[in-house]
Amino acid sequence: MYSPSAIERVAVVGGGTIGASWAALFLSRGLQVTLTDPAPGAEAIVRERIAHAWENLPEILPHALTPQDLRFEADLERGLAGAQFVQENAPEREAFKIELFQRMDALLPPEVIIASSSSGLLMTRVQSACAHPERCLIGHPFNPPHLIPLVEVVGGERTSPAAMDAAMAFYKAIGKYAIRLHKEVPGHIANRLQAALWREATHLAAEGVASVADIDAAISQGPGLRWALFGPHMTFNLGGGEGGMNHFLDHLWEPMQKWWDDLGNPQLTDELRTLLVQGVNAEAQGRSIAELARERDQRLLALLAMKARPTAAPKPQIQHLAEIGRFELIIEGHVCELDYQREDKIMTITHTGVPPALGGRGIAAELTEFALKTARDNGWKVRPQCSYAAAYFKRHPEHADLLA
Ligand SMILES: NC(=O)c1ccc[n+]([C@@H]2O[C@H](COP(=O)([O-])OP(=O)(O)OC[C@H]3O[C@@H](n4cnc5c(N)ncnc54)[C@H](O)[C@@H]3O)[C@@H](O)[C@H]2O)c1
Repeated sequence: MYSPSAIERVAVVGGGTIGASWAALFLSRGLQVTLTDPAPGAEAIVRERIAHAWENLPEILPHALTPQDLRFEADLERGLAGAQFVQENAPEREAFKIELFQRMDALLPPEVIIASSSSGLLMTRVQSACAHPERCLIGHPFNPPHLIPLVEVVGGERTSPAAMDAAMAFYKAIGKYAIRLHKEVPGHIANRLQAALWREATHLAAEGVASVADIDAAISQGPGLRWALFGPHMTFNLGGGEGGMNHFLDHLWEPMQKWWDDLGNPQLTDELRTLLVQGVNAEAQGRSIAELARERDQRLLALLAMKARPTAAPKPQIQHLAEIGRFELIIEGHVCELDYQREDKIMTITHTGVPPALGGRGIAAELTEFALKTARDNGWKVRPQCSYAAAYFKRHPEHADLLA
C-alpha cells in the first residue's frame, strides 16, 4: 500500500453530490485528481459543483491545486490510470457496486486502495467479486465531505489490516477526522445514530406531540449544540456532574429505559408524508433549498473555525524572524512558514508552507493575516508573489489597499 506522503494522484469515481465534493477537497490538499463519470454531460455539472464547493472550503493549502487542474475522463479505465488512491462515489446499489468494484479491481495494481463512500452497504458484499479484496474498504464521508471532517473507515471480511491502516493514515494526512470501525454494520455508526434519532422525531410528529419545526428546534436549540462539541456519551458523563458517568448511570439509566420502551416505530403513511413535507416547508419560512444550504454551509464554516481553536493548551505563537524574512509557527513539531523579501517599503511574499499533516486548521491564513498586519503596522505595501498569497488577496478584498 502507498504511504500517505507517497499519494499524489487520486481517482474519484462518480461525480455526483459526494464525488464532486471529495474532488474539491483533494485538490485543495494539493492532490492531482482525475474524476470519472459516464453520465452524458457529467463534466460540465461536475465542474460547476466543484467551483461551488471551492467557495466554501474551510481552508485551501498553500500547495493546493485549483479546480481547473481537475482532469475529467468519462471512461473508467482512463479515469483510473495512474491513480494511487481511489474514492468511489457511484450510486448506492449493492449489485451495481459489486460489479463496479470488480471492474476497478481488474484495472488497478493491487497496492492501490479502493475506498467506497457508501453510506451503508457492507464491504464484505461489495468486495465479493474482486481478485484483490484486501485493498477494498469503506471510507464513508459525511455530506458535504469538503466541510464535514468525519470519515468512517470500515473493512469487509477480506480487507487487510494494512489497507485499513493506510487508509486511516491517508485520510488523517489530508485533515479528515477518520474513525475506525472494528466490525461492519449496515449504515456504519453515524447514519445509524441519525436513523435512531430521526425515527423518534418522525414518531413524535406523527403522534402530534409538537410541530415539525418545534421538534427540530428541540435538537438545534438544545442538545444539538452540545453534540457539536461532545458526543452523547461524553455529554452524559458531564450530565452526571462531579460523579461523572457512574452517577449518571445510577440516576438516569432507569428512566432512560422507560423512555426507550416507549419510543416509536413510525410507518410512512400518506398522512405522515404530508405532515413532514408541510412541516419542513413551514419551518423554512420561504427560504429555498439553495438558500438553506448556503446558510448551513456558512454557519458550518464558522463552527469548524471555532472548533479548530484550541481551548486548554496555550496557543503556539507566530514568531517574526525579521533577519531572514520569515514568519514561523511551530505546531506539534511541524514548522509552518511564510517567507518574504523586503526592499524599502515593499514586502514580497515568496513562499507559504504548511505540512499536509496540519491541513484543515487555517494555519496558512493565520500566517498571512499576521504578515499583512505587520506590513500594515510598518506602513509597508505587499507584493503577493507566491500563489497562496495571491489567492488570499483575491479572497480577502478588504486588504486590497495593501497591494504594491
Ligand atoms: N448524498 C449523501 O448525503 C451521501 C453522504 C455520504 C455518502 N454517500 C454515498 O456516496 C455515494 C454517491 O452518492 P451521491 O449522493 O453523490 O449520489 P449521486 O446520485 O449524486 O451521484 C452518483 C454519481 O455516480 C455516477 N455514476 C453512475 N454510474 C457510474 C459508473 N459506472 N462509474 C462512475 N460514476 C458513475 C452518476 O452519473 C452520478 O453522477 C453513494 O454510495 C452514497 O451512499 C452519500
